[in-house]
Amino acid sequence: MEPTVIAAPHSAPATACVRVLAPAKLNFTLRVLHRRPDGYHELESWVVLIDLCDSLKLSAAAAGSGTRLTCSDPALPSDRRNLAVAAAEAMAAAAGRAPDVDVQLDKRIPVSAGLGGGSSDAAAVLRGLNELWGLHWPAERLAALGAGLGSDVPLFLAGPQSIIRGRGERVSAVASPWTGFVVLVCPPFGVSTADAYRAWAPVDRPTTPLGGTAGALPAAGLRPRLYNDLEPGVFRAAPRLAELHQRLDGLRDVPVRMSGSGSTLFALFDDGASAGAWAEAARSAAGEAVCVLVCETWSDRHLRLEGVVQLGDF
Ligand code: C5P
Repeated sequence: MEPTVIAAPHSAPATACVRVLAPAKLNFTLRVLHRRPDGYHELESWVVLIDLCDSLKLSAAAAGSGTRLTCSDPALPSDRRNLAVAAAEAMAAAAGRAPDVDVQLDKRIPVSAGLGGGSSDAAAVLRGLNELWGLHWPAERLAALGAGLGSDVPLFLAGPQSIIRGRGERVSAVASPWTGFVVLVCPPFGVSTADAYRAWAPVDRPTTPLGGTAGALPAAGLRPRLYNDLEPGVFRAAPRLAELHQRLDGLRDVPVRMSGSGSTLFALFDDGASAGAWAEAARSAAGEAVCVLVCETWSDRHLRLEGVVQLGDF
């Protein structure tokens, strides 16, 4: 079925400006199967979108101006090394039009943190330009374009929770997802995705069912079933992160996992009060200047924001 985009009226001619939210993701599970001949790693991961979001405003710009990115974080590149710009240029090329668009990016998601911020920004640009330019392309077409920009881009064009396979670009929705609260512990340093995969070595673990069935469990039942095959290699390469993980893992009997290629660590909770209490304890136990955030998994509630180009019909 072709997903509908809930947004400013479709019947209107190309809008002058659209606002798009770009949520972060967590990898609740991440199994790395093997290194492929093309250098990528074959994986299987249950990914969950959360309500920590970057926000983008896309506006039509004068002919010949190209894509101009203004970002709240001056440390990020504003040329095509930024996936938001690369996405606008790729979309324009695919649509056979000039990439004349101003992109204002309000950055909230920490970078190189395993939260998919750059990929989500790219997906948001694709969704936003689809609307701004009145293209009405289905999500599948956007996802194919997104896969060329980065392995994690298509998952942000699917639903709130998915199983991703291949190098990450093969996405299937999870039927009965777990929803609740997540506490993120973001250290003041990032991890490069390429370095994390380079540090990977095969992990011997029994097959654990993913996603769908796990959704029926409370957080206490789900926590021990989460895993991330990139952890051992990243912890070897980044001892400071390993030490932080050691301080937090098992705090108040709560297991802590790393998201994606790191550096964010996270834990799950069924209610906001226990998440808040654990966040306080984690801040004290961290022993360094971490950023601790209490977030919620992405749900229908987030789909009812007015005037925002939405994730899609899921
Ligand atoms: O696809 P993307 O550009 O986001 O990937 C960044 C890097 O992460 C790749 O160049 C590769 O080194 C590594 N990677 C990998 N296996 C994956 C995804 C990423 O080895 N499935």
